[in-house]
Amino acid sequence: MRSLLLLPLWALLRVWGSPEVPQRHFPFRCLQISSFANGSWTRTDGLAWLGELQTHTWSNDSDTIRFLKPWARGKFSDQQWDMLQHTFRVYRTSFTRDIQEFVKMLRLAYPIELQLSAGCEVHPGNTSTNFFHIAHEGKDILSFQGTSWEPAPEAPVWINAAVGVLNRDQGTRETVQWLLNDTCPQLVTGLLEAGKSELEKQVKPEAWLSSGPSPRPGHLLLVCHVSGFYPKPVWVRWMRGEQEQPGTQHSDLLPNADWTWYLRATLDVAAGEAAGLSCQVKHSSLEGQDIILHWGGSHASLGLIILAVLVCLVSLLALIVGLRLWLKRHRSYQDIL
Ligand SMILES: *[C@@H]1O[C@H](CO)[C@@H](O)[C@H](O)[C@H]1NC(C)=O
Ligand SMILES: *[C@@H]1O[C@H](CO)[C@@H](O)[C@H](O)[C@H]1NC(C)=O
Ligand SMILES: *[C@@H]1O[C@H](CO)[C@@H](O)[C@H](O)[C@H]1NC(C)=O
Ligand SMILES: *[C@@H]1O[C@H](CO)[C@@H](O)[C@H](O)[C@H]1NC(C)=O
Repeated sequence: MRSLLLLPLWALLRVWGSPEVPQRHFPFRCLQISSFANGSWTRTDGLAWLGELQTHTWSNDSDTIRFLKPWARGKFSDQQWDMLQHTFRVYRTSFTRDIQEFVKMLRLAYPIELQLSAGCEVHPGNTSTNFFHIAHEGKDILSFQGTSWEPAPEAPVWINAAVGVLNRDQGTRETVQWLLNDTCPQLVTGLLEAGKSELEKQVKPEAWLSSGPSPRPGHLLLVCHVSGFYPKPVWVRWMRGEQEQPGTQHSDLLPNADWTWYLRATLDVAAGEAAGLSCQVKHSSLEGQDIILHWGGSHASLGLIILAVLVCLVSLLALIVGLRLWLKRHRSYQDIL
């Protein structure tokens, strides 16, 4: 009993102990892309992610949502999933028809490209937040807020007419609330449970130092490479002792081919000030055992060392060849004499 009581405290301390390691979030995001080339040619495709992992796709050519993970059904029964699939099929057909009607009503011009992003996130304590945004040609035009549709702040004026029509449709507004408030958090709770082992996968990063091209005379660009880690949140800084160096610049997080991530942190320093700097890496897989690499300066001259060794070898070879030639000639002179 006592250890059970201590467990949350221990978890809390671990969270406090490393405030910089970002907490993991698993937002569920669905993206819908709908293209209308003209009054008759249209297609709608969908994708869904839980956190970093893609879980579902839905092609215009298919009647059913495709599962990309064995756990993508979450904890829904076949019957619940069939009902949901039916709702989405009806939605796709009515969405296409409604947009075509809006285009006529508002005298808009084809082609039209719409992007919808909707989803939710389940937080500790079984609360959830959700979102539903619609963009036209990449710009937000409207969103669903609580119980009704609202135009986006910078949306074109014609959107107000569409919002008016959408808000008079009580049935659709109720369905959207049901999907966002109830269905989505239920699906996500099930996904988090069913996909637990894959979602909680931890892969430790490897880190190494190098020097980049000198940014300006008398300066060095220190580069700290961090690669092969999973999940994505990572903390990488150049430090002097305990002191974070404010000039640390981060590259984008780049994917490796094996579903792990790569990040680079660089620091521009005066050549004389590089000694004593270190690169520190925090990541959930390291369980508090941060990676710390000290800048020794040798990384900067690794290329030079290789070059010097090569030059030495070549000179040595030349010397030996020269010496043998000289000896040979010397001997032949002696022979003549
Ligand atoms: C509609 O667009 C499609 C795809 O661009 C095209 O193949 C088709 O001929 C167009 N139809 C009409 C009636 O313009
Ligand atoms: C997309 O699906 C709809 C409904 O099944 C169909 O009518 C339409 O022709 C499809 N579009 C394309 C480009 O295949
Ligand atoms: C959590 O919330 C969902 C709805 O969002 C509900 O169906 C479920 O019963 C709740 N679970 C608990 C343990 O309260
Ligand atoms: C859904 O949640 C919103 C808040 O996000 C709330 O305003 C609304 O009343 C809820 N609707 C239903 C049907 O639960």
